[in-house]
Amino acid sequence: MTDAVKRSSDDRLKVAIVGCGGIGNSHARGYAASGRADLVGVADIVRERADGYAEKYDTTAYGSVTDLLAAQDPALVSIATPPGTHAELAIEVLAAGKSVIVEKPPVLSLAELDKIAEAEQASAGSAYGIFQHRHGSGGRRAHQLLQSGALGAPLVAVCETLWFRPRSYFDPDWRGTWVGEGGGPTLGHGIHQIDLLLHLLGQWKTINASAVRRDRPVQFEDISMAMVTFENRAVATMINSLLSPQELSRIRIDSEGGTLEVNHLYGYSDADWTFHPTPDEAVAARLGQDPGTVNPENAARSQQAGDAWAASAAEDVPSNHSAQLGRLVDDLLAGRDHETTLASTRPTMEFITALYASALTGQAVDRADLVPDHPFYTALHGGVEQSRIDSTFAI
Ligand SMILES: NC(=O)c1ccc[n+]([C@@H]2O[C@H](COP(=O)([O-])OP(=O)(O)OC[C@H]3O[C@@H](n4cnc5c(N)ncnc54)[C@H](O)[C@@H]3O)[C@@H](O)[C@H]2O)c1
Repeated sequence: MTDAVKRSSDDRLKVAIVGCGGIGNSHARGYAASGRADLVGVADIVRERADGYAEKYDTTAYGSVTDLLAAQDPALVSIATPPGTHAELAIEVLAAGKSVIVEKPPVLSLAELDKIAEAEQASAGSAYGIFQHRHGSGGRRAHQLLQSGALGAPLVAVCETLWFRPRSYFDPDWRGTWVGEGGGPTLGHGIHQIDLLLHLLGQWKTINASAVRRDRPVQFEDISMAMVTFENRAVATMINSLLSPQELSRIRIDSEGGTLEVNHLYGYSDADWTFHPTPDEAVAARLGQDPGTVNPENAARSQQAGDAWAASAAEDVPSNHSAQLGRLVDDLLAGRDHETTLASTRPTMEFITALYASALTGQAVDRADLVPDHPFYTALHGGVEQSRIDSTFAI
């Protein structure tokens, strides 16, 4: 990918944004915060939105990605448009030889993900996905400690996305539909915690799920629930809701070494993470932790001595767009690949596909089942008739 990186100068990267709605602002701010990116253009099919961004962020407006790419030479293009447009726009950017970073959910199906991967193969550019919660310092510490084995084997996890979206949230035409939004809280909202859970726990194996629609005017679910097994034998429960007035986003992982939890809403900082070490002194000693950490009287001494979580603390980086986009700009300028490649988001899209497949068929789904001729490979509704989806989700 490194030869794909075209630089504005030796230490600055030319970037562009397609989609000048709500979240495009976080991209503009994230690039500005990096201090090393030049926003050379913005595009929106609603021209006034592009004009508004151009004025606000001191750049040039275009009415489409095609016009933007014809006039400018960005090394990297952010796609911040509705989910149903991501694949087509990403493929156009890659076909022009540029790199692309796509908002969540990256695509609406595994088929679309594979089409982008094909376009990436043929391109000088690379494809990345926005998953900002992989990039805060808490998530990075947790990933490192779990992957290195410092917290012992993960055993049990709970993953909750309890959010609230009123009926009016679904007013825009593209929302609430399989074709525009692609799915409910499983795809559009829970995807943040699902991606972080998989990033921390590793590859999932099987899913048993249910989904229901209790209130919102949508073609899909407004609540989903799942039981999950992982390749490393950990198990997890999950719930995704859009009907929960007191909102939270929470992941709790019980490993041999202790309980690690993040409890936040739309972004965490280090203060949102807690670690409770195991009370089993033999296990703690085996993992190199001071068993005294469970005794409040010894807390200060033992944190110095061996609480792996406390010892990993460094600069507090909140999990926002600036955290990821700053690293992406740095990576591309340094000629490195950025770790949140689009390919690295495949387990998350497989998980979501399997959750819908399980909820709509009533069967457990194994990751290995999701081959290209699986009925849910091309669409998250699996081609199931809408009337059957409605009656399944009404249960
Ligand atoms: N990462 C996060 O935390 C986060 C948060 C909110 C939204 N999102 C995601 O960002 C994306 C956009 O969401 P939003 O809330 O900003 O939506 P939005 O409706 O506010 O903005 C989308 C913009 O894209 C424009 N657009 C649509 N099709 C286009 C096309 N083909 N070419 C150019 N412009 C086009 C629309 O005119 C609109 O201005 C969605 O995928 C959403 O899930 C991510």
